Amino acid sequence: MARPRAAATPEEHKRQERAYADAHAATYYHEMYQGPWPLYRARIEERLYRHLPRPRRVVDIGCGPIPSLPTVYEHAERYTCVDQSPGCLARLRLAYPRAEVVEADAEGFRVEGAFDLVVIIGVLHHVPEPPRVIEAAAALLRPAGLIVGMEPNERGEAVMDSPNERGIPDVEFDALYGRFEVLERWAWFVADYWMGLVERVPLPERPRRWADPTAWFAAVEDEERHMAEGGLPSMNVIIARRR
Ligand SMILES: C[S@@+](CC[C@H](N)C(=O)[O-])C[C@H]1O[C@@H](n2cnc3c(N)ncnc32)[C@H](O)[C@@H]1O
Repeated sequence: MARPRAAATPEEHKRQERAYADAHAATYYHEMYQGPWPLYRARIEERLYRHLPRPRRVVDIGCGPIPSLPTVYEHAERYTCVDQSPGCLARLRLAYPRAEVVEADAEGFRVEGAFDLVVIIGVLHHVPEPPRVIEAAAALLRPAGLIVGMEPNERGEAVMDSPNERGIPDVEFDALYGRFEVLERWAWFVADYWMGLVERVPLPERPRRWADPTAWFAAVEDEERHMAEGGLPSMNVIIARRR
């Protein structure tokens, strides 16, 4: 069952999420390089490059403290990061100085230009009205530009900490991206290995525990076993094209 949200209004919802992201920016920064996250970034980039080998102009909505797709950042001419958390953006500026940084609400912001790629990873499940973010994203894309999206569904709620985030059911996820032409669509599972750590280890301690690379392989095997046994995924991913 979906967890209840803490906020009574959309504005309060966003304020609470901003305060949470600011408070955890330093931990997030380290966490982004560890646990299952580098693996999912690599998987997305590998599939993205089949369709768009060189994304030159990119907007990353809800980027957090590092670019959501670091290899894409490395090769982009213009990589624009949008987030409402000044704490996360301050971190990002330190390590990724070429990024153009926009502190704004993902549900309504303006960036000049037409972009090859918009990235929305782990963001829609934090906002009160996800269709408004998709609206903003679609307006940024050049004709035939691509969008990459990833969100947890209700089974991903065990890894959620902030007051208002909740999983996006599979059907809702597909509906959000319904206006685009789907190029790649897959789902994966946050392995028991990581889930167990998330449940047992409080956030400030987690990055240190996630740093063990041998655990990555155990986690991949765990994921493969789970899926082979008919287990249900907890993360949905899409790569799609503006019609
Ligand atoms: C789980 S993090 C995802 C970070 C990153 N995209 C990644 O790939 O890991 C969610 C991010 O969304 C941002 N966010 C949440 N609500 C937002 C809003 N209404 N407008 C802009 N950013 C928002 C948070 O500040 C946070 O940095």
